[in-house]
Amino acid sequence: MKTLSVSHLLGIKNLKLEDLHLIFETATHFKEVINRPIKKVPSLRDITIANLFFENSTRTKLSFELAEKRLSADVINFSSAQSSINKGETLVDTVNNILAMKVDIVVMRHPNSGAAHYISKHVKSCIINAGDGTHEHPSQALLDTFSLQEKFGNLTGRRIAIVGDILHSRVALSNIYALKMLGAEVRLCAPKSLLPKHIESMGVSVSTDLMEVLNWCDAVNMLRVQNERMELSYFPNTREYSQNFGLTGERLSQLRKKIVVLHPGPINRGVEITSEVADSEQAIILDQVENGVAVRMAIIYLLASKLNIPLK
Ligand code: CP
Repeated sequence: MKTLSVSHLLGIKNLKLEDLHLIFETATHFKEVINRPIKKVPSLRDITIANLFFENSTRTKLSFELAEKRLSADVINFSSAQSSINKGETLVDTVNNILAMKVDIVVMRHPNSGAAHYISKHVKSCIINAGDGTHEHPSQALLDTFSLQEKFGNLTGRRIAIVGDILHSRVALSNIYALKMLGAEVRLCAPKSLLPKHIESMGVSVSTDLMEVLNWCDAVNMLRVQNERMELSYFPNTREYSQNFGLTGERLSQLRKKIVVLHPGPINRGVEITSEVADSEQAIILDQVENGVAVRMAIIYLLASKLNIPLK
């Protein structure tokens, strides 16, 4: 059986191209499973998974939980708001106490960049990063690139634009790693204040001209402005941001071809994308969400197969 080159999923940076192909191949199989009348397989019947969310989430949390249940794992959920974190317990103590209840895999979202790497070094468990601060969101990039491959066949030479708050975006960083690994060309578009310095050294091009970027690309991934991570003002106001960087039906209608529109969610309708575009045929936003379950089933299944527990 083919296996992943890693024992944790901490970021796309740590993966090899063969890992991406294996995850996509396995996700394709699981996508067929979750579209059957009986959407479940017994594979992880003897595995227990803890979902630890120290930061808000809708899609990622529910998608991981559903993926785990579709694989027949036992699942426990932890949310920091109602936990003893508020009484001063450390992250390592919290995770070790949960692991003492015989948990095999930890899925963790945390507001601090590097939290998943840190915990993987300090506890004995398989760790899956469900988003750490402004660092990486590997399962999101895997479902985004899986969805793009479904549309285009393969991504070699495809032109993919990422527009919006690149500076604060773990989705952007993980997507850049994944898209480059799969052979795509990547162009970033944002106000200069929301572009990290020296980002071109990752092998991407940069523009502040949205129409130029939209005319260049085959697909555009629209990012949310992450006000919760901003301590400063990065642009004058939301109206001006939308005028310069918002994706509207009018802008799409001026292009020479039909491009594919992605958004990782949550959407700020009327800010980075209008409802007309988000709900249009060109948008594959809900396909991304559907694929998220299959891709997360693949990630969990492949990592679980590296544990010393026989799968069913
Ligand atoms: N895309 C994403 O991470 O969404 P949530 O914050 O709702 O999990």
